[in-house]
Amino acid sequence: MKAPALSQFLEQAVSLLGEGAVKTAPSDLEPYCIDWRKRFFGKAAAILFPSNTELLAKIVRLANQHQVALVPQGGNTGLSGGATPDSSGEQVLVSLARLQQVREQDAVNKTLTVEAGITLLRVQELADAMGLLFPLSLGAEGSATIGGNLATNAGGTAVLRYGNARDLCLGIEVVTPTGEIWNGLRRLRKDNTGYDLRDLFIGSEGTLGFITAAVLKLFPKPAGLVTALVRVGSATDALALLQIAQAQCDAALTGFEYMSAQSVQVVIDHFPEVAKHGAQIIGSAGSDLSDSVLIEISHPASEGAAKEMLESVIAEAITQGAASDAILAQSMSQTKALWHLRETITLAAAEDGVQVKLDIAVPVSKLAEFITEMDREMLAEFPEIRLHNFGHFGDGNLHYNLGAPQSLAKGLSAEQRRAAYRTYIEQNEERLRRKVHDRVVAFNGSISAEHGLGQLRKAEAWRIKSSVELGLMKTIKQALDPNGILNPGKVIS
Ligand code: FAD
Ligand code: MLT
Ligand code: ZN
Repeated sequence: MKAPALSQFLEQAVSLLGEGAVKTAPSDLEPYCIDWRKRFFGKAAAILFPSNTELLAKIVRLANQHQVALVPQGGNTGLSGGATPDSSGEQVLVSLARLQQVREQDAVNKTLTVEAGITLLRVQELADAMGLLFPLSLGAEGSATIGGNLATNAGGTAVLRYGNARDLCLGIEVVTPTGEIWNGLRRLRKDNTGYDLRDLFIGSEGTLGFITAAVLKLFPKPAGLVTALVRVGSATDALALLQIAQAQCDAALTGFEYMSAQSVQVVIDHFPEVAKHGAQIIGSAGSDLSDSVLIEISHPASEGAAKEMLESVIAEAITQGAASDAILAQSMSQTKALWHLRETITLAAAEDGVQVKLDIAVPVSKLAEFITEMDREMLAEFPEIRLHNFGHFGDGNLHYNLGAPQSLAKGLSAEQRRAAYRTYIEQNEERLRRKVHDRVVAFNGSISAEHGLGQLRKAEAWRIKSSVELGLMKTIKQALDPNGILNPGKVIS
Protein backbone atom coordinates (compact mmCIF):
# COMPACT_ATOMS: atom_id res chain seq x y z
CA MET A 1 0.00 0.00 0.00
CA LYS A 2 1.26 3.48 -0.89
CA ALA A 3 1.96 6.01 1.89
CA PRO A 4 -0.83 8.66 2.11
CA ALA A 5 1.45 11.49 0.93
CA LEU A 6 2.48 9.50 -2.15
CA SER A 7 -1.13 8.56 -2.96
CA GLN A 8 -2.20 12.20 -2.66
CA PHE A 9 0.70 13.30 -4.85
CA LEU A 10 -0.26 10.78 -7.54
CA GLU A 11 -3.95 11.77 -7.43
CA GLN A 12 -3.03 15.44 -7.86
CA ALA A 13 -0.53 14.57 -10.61
CA VAL A 14 -3.35 12.84 -12.52
CA SER A 15 -5.55 15.94 -12.24
CA LEU A 16 -2.69 18.14 -13.43
CA LEU A 17 -1.38 16.01 -16.30
CA GLY A 18 -4.32 13.78 -17.21
CA GLU A 19 -4.54 9.99 -16.81
CA GLY A 20 -2.61 9.21 -19.98
CA ALA A 21 0.46 10.98 -18.60
CA VAL A 22 0.66 9.07 -15.31
CA LYS A 23 1.48 5.38 -15.50
CA THR A 24 1.50 3.13 -12.44
CA ALA A 25 0.99 -0.43 -13.76
CA PRO A 26 4.09 -2.58 -13.05
CA SER A 27 4.22 -3.78 -16.69
CA ASP A 28 4.23 -0.13 -17.90
CA LEU A 29 6.90 0.84 -15.38
CA GLU A 30 9.31 -2.05 -15.91
CA PRO A 31 11.26 -0.81 -18.96
CA TYR A 32 11.90 2.54 -17.25
CA CYS A 33 13.12 0.91 -14.03
CA ILE A 34 16.02 -1.05 -15.59
CA ASP A 35 19.13 0.63 -16.99
CA TRP A 36 20.50 -0.01 -20.50
CA ARG A 37 23.15 -2.46 -19.28
CA LYS A 38 20.71 -4.30 -17.00
CA ARG A 39 22.91 -3.66 -13.98
CA PHE A 40 20.37 -1.69 -11.93
CA PHE A 41 16.85 -2.91 -11.24
CA GLY A 42 14.70 -0.32 -9.48
CA LYS A 43 11.04 0.00 -8.55
CA ALA A 44 9.00 3.17 -9.02
CA ALA A 45 5.58 4.25 -7.76
CA ALA A 46 4.80 5.84 -11.13
CA ILE A 47 6.22 7.47 -14.23
CA LEU A 48 4.94 10.92 -15.24
CA PHE A 49 5.05 12.43 -18.72
CA PRO A 50 4.56 16.22 -18.45
CA SER A 51 4.25 17.87 -21.86
CA ASN A 52 5.64 21.32 -21.06
CA THR A 53 7.88 23.21 -18.65
CA GLU A 54 5.04 24.86 -16.69
CA LEU A 55 3.35 21.52 -15.96
CA LEU A 56 6.67 20.03 -14.87
CA ALA A 57 7.25 22.98 -12.50
CA LYS A 58 3.83 22.38 -10.94
CA ILE A 59 4.66 18.69 -10.46
CA VAL A 60 7.93 19.60 -8.74
CA ARG A 61 6.13 21.99 -6.39
CA LEU A 62 3.66 19.23 -5.59
CA ALA A 63 6.52 16.81 -4.91
CA ASN A 64 8.02 19.27 -2.41
CA GLN A 65 4.67 19.64 -0.71
CA HIS A 66 4.32 15.86 -0.28
CA GLN A 67 8.04 15.04 0.12
CA VAL A 68 8.06 12.72 -2.89
CA ALA A 69 11.39 11.92 -4.57
CA LEU A 70 11.59 12.50 -8.34
CA VAL A 71 13.97 10.78 -10.77
CA PRO A 72 14.47 12.58 -14.12
CA GLN A 73 14.71 10.33 -17.16
CA GLY A 74 15.43 11.02 -20.84
CA GLY A 75 16.19 8.17 -23.25
CA ASN A 76 17.36 5.82 -20.46
CA THR A 77 20.62 5.08 -22.29
CA GLY A 78 22.86 6.27 -19.44
CA LEU A 79 25.63 3.89 -18.39
CA SER A 80 25.90 4.81 -14.69
CA GLY A 81 22.40 4.03 -13.37
CA GLY A 82 21.57 7.73 -12.89
CA ALA A 83 18.05 7.44 -14.31
CA THR A 84 17.09 4.25 -12.43
CA PRO A 85 15.00 4.66 -9.27
CA ASP A 86 15.95 2.91 -6.03
CA SER A 87 14.23 -0.32 -4.92
CA SER A 88 11.83 1.29 -2.40
CA GLY A 89 8.95 1.63 -4.88
CA GLU A 90 8.38 5.15 -3.50
CA GLN A 91 10.30 7.24 -6.00
CA VAL A 92 8.52 8.72 -9.01
CA LEU A 93 10.14 8.77 -12.44
CA VAL A 94 9.64 11.91 -14.54
CA SER A 95 10.17 11.40 -18.25
CA LEU A 96 11.06 14.42 -20.36
CA ALA A 97 10.10 12.54 -23.55
CA ARG A 98 7.07 14.73 -24.32
CA LEU A 99 9.06 17.98 -24.31
CA GLN A 100 9.51 17.94 -28.08
CA GLN A 101 9.22 21.54 -29.32
CA VAL A 102 11.80 23.19 -31.55
CA ARG A 103 11.76 26.67 -30.02
CA GLU A 104 14.06 28.59 -32.40
CA GLN A 105 16.37 28.09 -35.39
CA ASP A 106 18.93 30.82 -36.06
CA ALA A 107 21.25 29.95 -38.94
CA VAL A 108 23.10 33.29 -38.75
CA ASN A 109 23.85 32.99 -35.02
CA LYS A 110 24.41 29.26 -35.69
CA THR A 111 22.14 28.16 -32.86
CA LEU A 112 19.24 25.80 -32.41
CA THR A 113 16.93 26.00 -29.39
CA VAL A 114 15.14 22.75 -28.58
CA GLU A 115 13.27 21.14 -25.74
CA ALA A 116 14.91 18.43 -23.66
CA GLY A 117 13.05 15.35 -24.91
CA ILE A 118 14.25 15.61 -28.51
CA THR A 119 16.73 12.87 -29.39
CA LEU A 120 20.32 13.66 -30.31
CA LEU A 121 19.77 12.13 -33.75
CA ARG A 122 16.83 14.49 -34.39
CA VAL A 123 18.98 17.45 -33.32
CA GLN A 124 21.67 16.37 -35.80
CA GLU A 125 18.98 16.12 -38.52
CA LEU A 126 17.56 19.56 -37.67
CA ALA A 127 21.04 21.10 -37.85
CA ASP A 128 21.67 19.33 -41.16
CA ALA A 129 18.44 20.75 -42.61
CA MET A 130 19.74 24.23 -41.65
CA GLY A 131 22.90 23.47 -43.67
CA LEU A 132 24.91 23.23 -40.45
CA LEU A 133 26.46 20.63 -38.16
CA PHE A 134 25.70 19.65 -34.57
CA PRO A 135 28.82 17.60 -33.85
CA LEU A 136 27.89 15.69 -30.68
CA SER A 137 27.90 12.05 -31.74
CA LEU A 138 27.56 8.81 -29.77
CA GLY A 139 26.40 5.24 -30.28
CA ALA A 140 23.06 5.75 -28.48
CA GLU A 141 22.12 8.93 -30.39
CA GLY A 142 18.89 7.42 -31.79
CA SER A 143 17.43 7.18 -28.25
CA ALA A 144 19.48 9.49 -26.01
CA THR A 145 17.83 12.90 -25.52
CA ILE A 146 19.46 16.30 -25.61
CA GLY A 147 18.36 16.83 -21.99
CA GLY A 148 20.11 13.60 -20.98
CA ASN A 149 23.20 14.57 -22.99
CA LEU A 150 23.47 17.84 -21.11
CA ALA A 151 22.57 16.33 -17.73
CA THR A 152 25.48 13.87 -18.17
CA ASN A 153 27.74 16.30 -20.06
CA ALA A 154 28.11 13.56 -22.69
CA GLY A 155 31.32 13.22 -24.68
CA GLY A 156 31.30 10.90 -27.67
CA THR A 157 33.57 10.73 -30.67
CA ALA A 158 34.13 14.36 -31.73
CA VAL A 159 35.26 15.94 -28.45
CA LEU A 160 38.86 16.50 -29.51
CA ARG A 161 37.69 18.99 -32.15
CA TYR A 162 34.32 20.33 -30.90
CA GLY A 163 34.29 19.67 -27.14
CA ASN A 164 31.74 17.84 -24.99
CA ALA A 165 28.04 18.62 -24.48
CA ARG A 166 28.90 21.50 -22.13
CA ASP A 167 31.01 23.17 -24.84
CA LEU A 168 28.16 22.82 -27.33
CA CYS A 169 25.53 24.59 -25.25
CA LEU A 170 25.04 28.34 -24.94
CA GLY A 171 22.02 28.41 -22.66
CA ILE A 172 19.46 26.28 -20.82
CA GLU A 173 16.03 26.43 -19.27
CA VAL A 174 15.69 24.68 -15.93
CA VAL A 175 12.97 23.68 -13.48
CA THR A 176 14.68 23.97 -10.11
CA PRO A 177 14.23 21.37 -7.34
CA THR A 178 11.76 23.71 -5.64
CA GLY A 179 9.69 24.13 -8.78
CA GLU A 180 10.81 27.52 -10.11
CA ILE A 181 11.54 28.07 -13.78
CA TRP A 182 14.88 29.65 -14.73
CA ASN A 183 14.94 30.83 -18.33
CA GLY A 184 18.62 30.91 -19.21
CA LEU A 185 18.05 30.41 -22.94
CA ARG A 186 20.55 33.11 -23.93
CA ARG A 187 22.03 32.74 -27.38
CA LEU A 188 25.26 34.47 -26.35
CA ARG A 189 28.81 33.36 -26.86
CA LYS A 190 30.02 35.74 -24.16
CA ASP A 191 28.23 36.50 -20.88
CA ASN A 192 30.08 37.25 -17.66
CA THR A 193 27.21 38.40 -15.51
CA GLY A 194 27.90 36.52 -12.30
CA TYR A 195 28.13 32.82 -11.46
CA ASP A 196 27.75 30.46 -14.41
CA LEU A 197 24.51 28.70 -13.50
CA ARG A 198 24.33 26.97 -16.87
CA ASP A 199 27.54 25.09 -16.16
CA LEU A 200 26.30 24.16 -12.70
CA PHE A 201 23.28 22.32 -14.09
CA ILE A 202 25.13 20.74 -17.03
CA GLY A 203 26.65 17.47 -15.82
CA SER A 204 24.62 17.44 -12.59
CA GLU A 205 22.88 14.18 -13.61
CA GLY A 206 19.40 15.26 -12.60
CA THR A 207 20.35 16.09 -9.00
CA LEU A 208 20.18 19.90 -9.18
CA GLY A 209 17.33 20.54 -11.62
CA PHE A 210 15.39 19.40 -14.68
CA ILE A 211 16.88 20.71 -17.91
CA THR A 212 13.81 21.46 -20.04
CA ALA A 213 15.30 23.24 -23.07
CA ALA A 214 18.68 24.26 -24.45
CA VAL A 215 20.37 26.56 -26.95
CA LEU A 216 22.80 24.44 -28.96
CA LYS A 217 25.84 25.66 -30.86
CA LEU A 218 26.05 24.73 -34.55
CA PHE A 219 29.06 24.68 -36.90
CA PRO A 220 29.70 24.88 -40.64
CA LYS A 221 29.56 21.45 -42.28
CA PRO A 222 32.98 20.26 -43.46
CA ALA A 223 33.30 19.96 -47.25
CA GLY A 224 35.31 16.77 -47.04
CA LEU A 225 35.20 13.98 -44.50
CA VAL A 226 37.37 10.86 -44.64
CA THR A 227 37.99 7.99 -42.28
CA ALA A 228 40.73 5.39 -42.01
CA LEU A 229 41.28 2.33 -39.87
CA VAL A 230 44.94 2.05 -38.95
CA ARG A 231 46.72 -1.04 -37.64
CA VAL A 232 49.01 -0.20 -34.72
CA GLY A 233 51.22 -2.46 -32.60
CA SER A 234 50.34 -0.95 -29.22
CA ALA A 235 48.95 2.01 -27.31
CA THR A 236 52.41 3.59 -27.52
CA ASP A 237 52.14 3.46 -31.33
CA ALA A 238 48.68 5.01 -31.05
CA LEU A 239 50.13 7.96 -29.13
CA ALA A 240 52.86 8.43 -31.76
CA LEU A 241 50.19 8.31 -34.48
CA LEU A 242 48.16 10.95 -32.62
CA GLN A 243 51.18 13.26 -32.49
CA ILE A 244 51.68 12.92 -36.25
CA ALA A 245 47.98 13.47 -36.98
CA GLN A 246 47.76 16.55 -34.73
CA ALA A 247 50.95 18.06 -36.16
CA GLN A 248 49.76 17.62 -39.74
CA CYS A 249 46.02 18.21 -39.41
CA ASP A 250 45.46 20.46 -36.40
CA ALA A 251 41.72 21.26 -36.21
CA ALA A 252 40.93 19.03 -39.21
CA LEU A 253 41.45 15.99 -36.98
CA THR A 254 37.91 15.31 -35.75
CA GLY A 255 38.10 11.70 -34.55
CA PHE A 256 40.80 9.52 -33.00
CA GLU A 257 39.36 6.35 -31.49
CA TYR A 258 41.50 3.52 -30.14
CA MET A 259 40.37 -0.13 -30.11
CA SER A 260 42.39 -2.81 -28.35
CA ALA A 261 42.56 -6.18 -30.15
CA GLN A 262 40.33 -7.77 -27.51
CA SER A 263 37.66 -5.09 -27.79
CA VAL A 264 37.36 -5.91 -31.52
CA GLN A 265 37.43 -9.62 -30.71
CA VAL A 266 34.12 -9.21 -28.84
CA VAL A 267 32.55 -7.76 -32.00
CA ILE A 268 33.96 -10.66 -34.06
CA ASP A 269 32.58 -13.13 -31.51
CA HIS A 270 29.03 -11.75 -31.55
CA PHE A 271 28.58 -9.69 -34.75
CA PRO A 272 31.13 -11.13 -37.23
CA GLU A 273 29.51 -9.37 -40.22
CA VAL A 274 30.17 -5.97 -38.64
CA ALA A 275 33.89 -6.64 -38.24
CA LYS A 276 34.34 -8.01 -41.78
CA HIS A 277 35.47 -4.83 -43.54
CA GLY A 278 38.04 -3.89 -40.88
CA ALA A 279 39.37 -7.45 -40.66
CA GLN A 280 41.36 -6.98 -43.89
CA ILE A 281 43.64 -4.63 -42.00
CA ILE A 282 43.56 -5.45 -38.34
CA GLY A 283 43.24 -9.22 -38.61
CA SER A 284 40.42 -11.58 -37.90
CA ALA A 285 41.06 -13.49 -34.69
CA GLY A 286 43.44 -14.57 -31.94
CA SER A 287 47.08 -13.53 -32.19
CA ASP A 288 46.47 -12.31 -35.75
CA LEU A 289 44.32 -9.45 -34.43
CA SER A 290 46.02 -6.15 -33.60
CA ASP A 291 45.17 -2.92 -31.80
CA SER A 292 43.82 -0.25 -34.11
CA VAL A 293 42.88 3.40 -34.40
CA LEU A 294 39.98 4.93 -36.28
CA ILE A 295 40.96 8.36 -37.58
CA GLU A 296 38.57 10.92 -39.02
CA ILE A 297 39.59 14.07 -40.90
CA SER A 298 37.10 16.86 -41.67
CA HIS A 299 38.42 19.38 -44.19
CA PRO A 300 36.81 22.77 -44.90
CA ALA A 301 37.94 22.76 -48.58
CA SER A 302 37.13 19.43 -50.20
CA GLU A 303 36.97 15.64 -49.98
CA GLY A 304 40.18 15.46 -52.01
CA ALA A 305 42.03 17.70 -49.55
CA ALA A 306 40.83 15.60 -46.62
CA LYS A 307 41.98 12.41 -48.36
CA GLU A 308 45.38 13.84 -49.18
CA MET A 309 45.85 14.91 -45.57
CA LEU A 310 44.93 11.50 -44.19
CA GLU A 311 47.15 9.67 -46.71
CA SER A 312 50.06 11.84 -45.66
CA VAL A 313 49.45 11.07 -41.95
CA ILE A 314 49.35 7.33 -42.66
CA ALA A 315 52.49 7.43 -44.82
CA GLU A 316 54.42 9.29 -42.10
CA ALA A 317 53.15 6.90 -39.40
CA ILE A 318 54.30 3.88 -41.43
CA THR A 319 57.70 5.53 -42.04
CA GLN A 320 58.11 6.17 -38.31
CA GLY A 321 56.97 2.63 -37.44
CA ALA A 322 53.88 3.84 -35.55
CA ALA A 323 51.53 2.02 -37.95
CA SER A 324 51.92 -1.07 -40.08
CA ASP A 325 48.89 -0.90 -42.36
CA ALA A 326 45.72 1.09 -42.98
CA ILE A 327 42.50 1.10 -44.92
CA LEU A 328 41.07 4.40 -46.10
CA ALA A 329 37.31 4.36 -46.66
CA GLN A 330 36.57 4.94 -50.35
CA SER A 331 32.87 5.64 -50.03
CA MET A 332 30.25 6.73 -47.51
CA SER A 333 29.20 3.10 -47.08
CA GLN A 334 32.79 2.09 -46.22
CA THR A 335 33.04 5.02 -43.80
CA LYS A 336 29.84 3.88 -42.12
CA ALA A 337 31.12 0.29 -41.97
CA LEU A 338 34.29 1.35 -40.15
CA TRP A 339 32.40 3.54 -37.67
CA HIS A 340 29.86 0.77 -37.22
CA LEU A 341 32.64 -1.55 -36.08
CA ARG A 342 33.72 1.00 -33.47
CA GLU A 343 30.17 1.76 -32.30
CA THR A 344 29.23 -1.93 -32.04
CA ILE A 345 31.76 -2.68 -29.28
CA THR A 346 29.28 -1.62 -26.56
CA LEU A 347 26.46 -3.73 -27.98
CA ALA A 348 28.74 -6.74 -28.53
CA ALA A 349 30.04 -6.47 -24.97
CA ALA A 350 26.44 -6.40 -23.67
CA GLU A 351 25.68 -9.49 -25.75
CA ASP A 352 28.81 -11.19 -24.39
CA GLY A 353 27.73 -10.67 -20.77
CA VAL A 354 28.29 -8.35 -17.85
CA GLN A 355 31.65 -6.59 -17.69
CA VAL A 356 33.38 -4.21 -15.34
CA LYS A 357 32.72 -0.97 -17.18
CA LEU A 358 35.10 1.89 -16.62
CA ASP A 359 35.37 5.38 -18.03
CA ILE A 360 38.70 6.82 -17.06
CA ALA A 361 40.68 9.85 -18.19
CA VAL A 362 44.35 10.71 -17.79
CA PRO A 363 46.38 13.40 -19.55
CA VAL A 364 46.69 12.40 -23.23
CA SER A 365 50.48 12.34 -22.87
CA LYS A 366 50.12 9.65 -20.16
CA LEU A 367 47.46 7.40 -21.73
CA ALA A 368 49.79 4.94 -23.47
CA GLU A 369 51.86 4.57 -20.30
CA PHE A 370 48.67 4.04 -18.31
CA ILE A 371 47.43 1.30 -20.65
CA THR A 372 50.80 -0.49 -20.76
CA GLU A 373 51.28 -0.47 -16.98
CA MET A 374 47.64 -1.25 -16.21
CA ASP A 375 47.51 -4.18 -18.64
CA ARG A 376 50.70 -5.62 -17.13
CA GLU A 377 49.48 -5.27 -13.56
CA MET A 378 46.02 -6.59 -14.36
CA LEU A 379 47.25 -9.69 -16.21
CA ALA A 380 49.76 -10.47 -13.45
CA GLU A 381 46.91 -10.85 -10.97
CA PHE A 382 44.09 -11.93 -13.30
CA PRO A 383 45.86 -13.76 -16.16
CA GLU A 384 42.63 -14.75 -17.94
CA ILE A 385 40.80 -11.44 -17.70
CA ARG A 386 39.82 -9.95 -21.07
CA LEU A 387 41.05 -6.39 -21.66
CA HIS A 388 38.22 -4.89 -23.67
CA ASN A 389 39.60 -1.38 -23.56
CA PHE A 390 38.75 1.12 -26.24
CA GLY A 391 37.75 4.74 -26.50
CA HIS A 392 38.41 8.36 -27.12
CA PHE A 393 42.22 8.24 -27.16
CA GLY A 394 42.52 11.78 -28.53
CA ASP A 395 40.78 13.06 -25.37
CA GLY A 396 42.78 10.86 -22.97
CA ASN A 397 39.52 8.98 -22.26
CA LEU A 398 39.48 5.20 -22.23
CA HIS A 399 36.76 2.68 -21.46
CA TYR A 400 39.10 0.31 -19.65
CA ASN A 401 36.51 -2.46 -19.59
CA LEU A 402 37.20 -5.91 -18.20
CA GLY A 403 35.53 -9.10 -19.40
CA ALA A 404 35.26 -12.36 -17.43
CA PRO A 405 37.61 -15.22 -18.45
CA GLN A 406 36.31 -17.03 -21.52
CA SER A 407 37.29 -20.37 -19.97
CA LEU A 408 34.26 -19.99 -17.66
CA ALA A 409 31.99 -20.33 -20.67
CA LYS A 410 33.32 -23.61 -22.09
CA GLY A 411 30.46 -25.83 -23.22
CA LEU A 412 27.79 -23.46 -21.95
CA SER A 413 24.78 -22.06 -23.82
CA ALA A 414 24.65 -18.28 -24.36
CA GLU A 415 22.30 -17.88 -21.43
CA GLN A 416 24.46 -20.01 -19.12
CA ARG A 417 27.56 -18.11 -20.27
CA ARG A 418 26.00 -14.78 -19.36
CA ALA A 419 25.02 -16.14 -15.94
CA ALA A 420 28.56 -17.45 -15.34
CA TYR A 421 30.11 -14.12 -16.37
CA ARG A 422 27.66 -12.20 -14.17
CA THR A 423 28.61 -14.31 -11.14
CA TYR A 424 32.33 -13.82 -11.80
CA ILE A 425 32.01 -10.07 -12.29
CA GLU A 426 29.79 -9.61 -9.25
CA GLN A 427 32.36 -11.49 -7.15
CA ASN A 428 35.38 -9.58 -8.46
CA GLU A 429 34.02 -6.21 -9.56
CA GLU A 430 35.00 -4.16 -6.55
CA ARG A 431 38.57 -5.43 -6.52
CA LEU A 432 39.01 -4.95 -10.27
CA ARG A 433 37.47 -1.49 -10.27
CA ARG A 434 39.56 -0.32 -7.33
CA LYS A 435 42.72 -1.60 -8.96
CA VAL A 436 42.12 0.52 -12.04
CA HIS A 437 40.88 3.56 -10.12
CA ASP A 438 43.90 3.53 -7.80
CA ARG A 439 46.16 3.75 -10.81
CA VAL A 440 43.97 6.50 -12.28
CA VAL A 441 44.45 8.49 -9.07
CA ALA A 442 48.21 7.90 -9.24
CA PHE A 443 48.12 9.35 -12.77
CA ASN A 444 46.10 12.35 -11.55
CA GLY A 445 43.18 11.24 -13.69
CA SER A 446 39.40 11.00 -13.46
CA ILE A 447 37.22 7.94 -12.68
CA SER A 448 34.52 9.24 -15.01
CA ALA A 449 35.42 11.16 -18.12
CA GLU A 450 31.97 11.21 -19.74
CA HIS A 451 29.42 8.75 -18.30
CA GLY A 452 29.03 10.41 -14.90
CA LEU A 453 28.80 9.01 -11.37
CA GLY A 454 25.09 8.10 -11.23
CA GLN A 455 24.84 5.32 -8.67
CA LEU A 456 27.57 3.18 -10.26
CA ARG A 457 30.53 5.34 -9.21
CA LYS A 458 29.13 7.18 -6.22
CA ALA A 459 31.01 5.12 -3.61
CA GLU A 460 34.25 5.44 -5.56
CA ALA A 461 33.82 9.22 -5.80
CA TRP A 462 33.38 9.33 -2.04
CA ARG A 463 36.54 7.24 -1.62
CA ILE A 464 38.64 9.30 -3.98
CA LYS A 465 37.50 12.93 -3.83
CA SER A 466 38.78 15.27 -1.13
CA SER A 467 36.51 16.25 1.75
CA VAL A 468 36.75 19.86 0.56
CA GLU A 469 35.45 18.96 -2.91
CA LEU A 470 32.67 16.74 -1.53
CA GLY A 471 31.76 19.41 1.04
CA LEU A 472 31.38 22.09 -1.66
CA MET A 473 29.19 19.78 -3.73
CA LYS A 474 26.97 19.00 -0.73
CA THR A 475 26.60 22.71 0.05
CA ILE A 476 25.40 23.37 -3.50
CA LYS A 477 22.98 20.43 -3.39
CA GLN A 478 21.56 21.52 -0.02
CA ALA A 479 21.13 25.12 -1.19
CA LEU A 480 19.28 24.20 -4.37
CA ASP A 481 17.34 21.17 -3.13
CA PRO A 482 16.64 21.75 0.58
CA ASN A 483 14.06 18.94 0.71
CA GLY A 484 16.34 16.48 -1.09
CA ILE A 485 13.65 15.44 -3.55
CA LEU A 486 15.65 15.42 -6.77
CA ASN A 487 17.30 12.12 -7.73
CA PRO A 488 18.35 11.08 -4.22
CA GLY A 489 21.02 8.38 -4.05
CA LYS A 490 22.86 9.64 -7.13
CA VAL A 491 26.18 11.49 -7.57
CA ILE A 492 26.86 12.61 -3.98
CA SER A 493 23.42 12.64 -2.35
P1 FAD B 1 19.16 9.06 -19.30
O1 FAD B 1 19.88 7.77 -19.36
O2 FAD B 1 17.68 9.00 -19.32
O3 FAD B 1 19.62 9.86 -17.99
C1 FAD B 1 20.99 10.03 -17.68
C2 FAD B 1 21.12 10.94 -16.44
O4 FAD B 1 20.66 12.25 -16.74
C3 FAD B 1 20.30 10.50 -15.25
O5 FAD B 1 20.97 10.84 -14.08
C4 FAD B 1 19.00 11.29 -15.36
O6 FAD B 1 18.39 11.48 -14.12
C5 FAD B 1 19.51 12.59 -15.96
N1 FAD B 1 18.59 13.28 -16.87
C6 FAD B 1 18.10 12.83 -18.06
N2 FAD B 1 17.39 13.79 -18.68
C7 FAD B 1 17.43 14.87 -17.86
C8 FAD B 1 16.91 16.19 -17.95
N3 FAD B 1 16.23 16.61 -19.02
N4 FAD B 1 17.15 17.04 -16.93
C9 FAD B 1 17.89 16.66 -15.84
N5 FAD B 1 18.39 15.43 -15.71
C10 FAD B 1 18.18 14.55 -16.71
N6 FAD B 1 27.95 8.59 -23.38
C11 FAD B 1 28.99 9.39 -23.70
O7 FAD B 1 29.26 10.36 -23.00
N7 FAD B 1 29.76 9.11 -24.80
C12 FAD B 1 29.52 8.07 -25.61
O8 FAD B 1 30.24 7.84 -26.58
C13 FAD B 1 28.40 7.23 -25.30
N8 FAD B 1 28.10 6.18 -26.10
C14 FAD B 1 27.08 5.35 -25.75
C15 FAD B 1 26.80 4.24 -26.56
C16 FAD B 1 25.79 3.37 -26.21
C17 FAD B 1 25.51 2.19 -27.09
C18 FAD B 1 25.03 3.60 -25.03
C19 FAD B 1 23.91 2.69 -24.63
C20 FAD B 1 25.28 4.71 -24.24
C21 FAD B 1 26.31 5.58 -24.57
N9 FAD B 1 26.61 6.71 -23.79
C22 FAD B 1 27.65 7.53 -24.13
C23 FAD B 1 25.84 6.98 -22.56
C24 FAD B 1 24.51 7.75 -22.78
O9 FAD B 1 24.02 7.62 -24.06
C25 FAD B 1 24.69 9.21 -22.44
O10 FAD B 1 24.97 9.33 -21.07
C26 FAD B 1 23.48 10.08 -22.77
O11 FAD B 1 23.87 11.43 -22.64
C27 FAD B 1 22.28 9.83 -21.85
O12 FAD B 1 21.11 10.43 -22.40
P2 FAD B 1 19.66 9.89 -22.01
O13 FAD B 1 18.65 10.83 -22.59
O14 FAD B 1 19.52 8.48 -22.38
O15 FAD B 1 19.69 10.05 -20.42
C1 MLT C 1 31.55 4.60 -26.30
O1 MLT C 1 32.58 5.26 -26.30
O2 MLT C 1 31.26 3.82 -27.23
C2 MLT C 1 30.58 4.78 -25.19
O3 MLT C 1 31.03 5.62 -24.19
C3 MLT C 1 29.90 3.56 -24.73
C4 MLT C 1 30.73 2.64 -23.89
O4 MLT C 1 31.54 3.07 -23.08
O5 MLT C 1 30.50 1.43 -23.98
ZN1 ZN D 1 32.75 6.68 -24.76
